[in-house]
Amino acid sequence: MNGLFRKLGTKHLFWGEHMNKVAINFVLNGQEKTVQVDSNTRLVDLLRDDLGLTGVKIGCGEGECGACTVIINGETANSCLVLAAQVDGTEITTIEGLGDYNHLHPLQESFIEEGAVQCGFCTPGMILSAKALLDRNPNPDKTEIVNSLAGNLCRCTGYTKIVKAIERVVKQSTVNPERS
Ligand code: FES
Ligand code: FES
Repeated sequence: MNGLFRKLGTKHLFWGEHMNKVAINFVLNGQEKTVQVDSNTRLVDLLRDDLGLTGVKIGCGEGECGACTVIINGETANSCLVLAAQVDGTEITTIEGLGDYNHLHPLQESFIEEGAVQCGFCTPGMILSAKALLDRNPNPDKTEIVNSLAGNLCRCTGYTKIVKAIERVVKQSTVNPERS
């Protein structure tokens, strides 16, 4: 079977010396990526272990905590429940795609200003869930903000400051749309 491959959609599965490897192309934080992954590799492991994006956290590993949240084609997803092979042809955003140390995203600034970060383990997932919400609805009310965080658990803050931080960005972007 060496060298034999079959095509599944846009993915290629290889046998023999490349047992169960899948070739995938996707856009990660604005950059095109082509990688080969084992067909059973989770997206969270590809991002953290192979691509060095350790802002993607692993908490429960079972889809319960939201620490591994990423944005795929505009929707939040628990990357511990997604196979890397499934993201072929998608656009993915992780926390590393939002801002950097010197140029924080308004949500990152606001989380700091409102004291919404304690241990910080949940923070990347919280911010990405908030970003996905604000991208589809720049002026959400408090209920919509709370609902958007339903899949993200925080063991430290009690959520109040997190919600306030997001409300602050909503207010700022209403005053100055450039800052959304
Ligand atoms: S690590 Fe993925 S939801 Fe908890
Ligand atoms: S700040 Fe510690 S889990 Fe949320």
